[in-house]
Amino acid sequence: KSLKIFAPATVANLSCGFDVLGCCLDTVGDEMIVSLTSDPGVKITKIEGADLPLETEKNVAGVAVQALLNVYNKDIGVTIEIYKKIKAGSGIGSSAASSAGAVWAVNHLLGNPFTAHELVTFAMEGEKLASGNAHADNVAPALLGGFTLVRSYDPLDVIKLNTPKDLMITVIHPQIEVKTSDSRSVIKNNVSLKKAIRQWGNVGGLIAGLYTEDYKLIGRSLEDVIIEPLRSILIPEFESVKQAAIAKGALGCGISGSGPSIFALSKGEETANNVADAIRSVYNQTGLDFEIHVSKIN
Ligand code: HSE
Repeated sequence: KSLKIFAPATVANLSCGFDVLGCCLDTVGDEMIVSLTSDPGVKITKIEGADLPLETEKNVAGVAVQALLNVYNKDIGVTIEIYKKIKAGSGIGSSAASSAGAVWAVNHLLGNPFTAHELVTFAMEGEKLASGNAHADNVAPALLGGFTLVRSYDPLDVIKLNTPKDLMITVIHPQIEVKTSDSRSVIKNNVSLKKAIRQWGNVGGLIAGLYTEDYKLIGRSLEDVIIEPLRSILIPEFESVKQAAIAKGALGCGISGSGPSIFALSKGEETANNVADAIRSVYNQTGLDFEIHVSKIN
């Protein structure tokens, strides 16, 4: 039995929701072919588009599927082919696409013995291997779709949120690699109460805005006073991109995951495309290679 799947890119954090908020892009992602075999164990048989390890225990998809099989506890063989379109270190959930895609496909081939929430815990093992930290804010939206909130990590409590119907996302991916582990090392472990109050106000505002489809409230809430000021120095032209996006009508703009990608949310496709053009103009002046995606959130 074999299955070909689309493993979507995701944008984590969404400014105010470090490690808890994320959303799923419906046009950007990898392809994977996952098969069940009679030869027990997990084998990564092919990787195209990226220089990533084929050894199961060093590959995020391999580790995630192994975590699933450890619980399933039957002699199952799995082979995985990965066709990467999302580059590693891009900030749009490259490792999450592989781990979430692989466990989703294996679960489907087995007749869905696990819930989406259980799949999140398996896929998190891939994230732990990739960045040293088992965050779920990319794998949760990759598996559940739309916007998701990790309300709690211990015990894991993941909530799928509403997606306003006209919301679009524009993402620029400068073709430089920023390792999640490196961009986590610039963050401080302690937060002042003043900043925490502003941040959780924004998280609440963003979620209220998603449910009431209040685009202005979404825009006001896309603010990060804790992580962005520390990480933005790793991202070329971050402030200029943000200003250009807002000037063209974006609701808000911030770092996508751990960077270097930058995302902007907009109401409607026309604005999202105008924002893409404005960001493109900023980056054309840098001489850096980049890709821009405009996508629905689904
Ligand atoms: N929440 C994680 C971080 C996402 O910002 O480090 C990594 O893609």
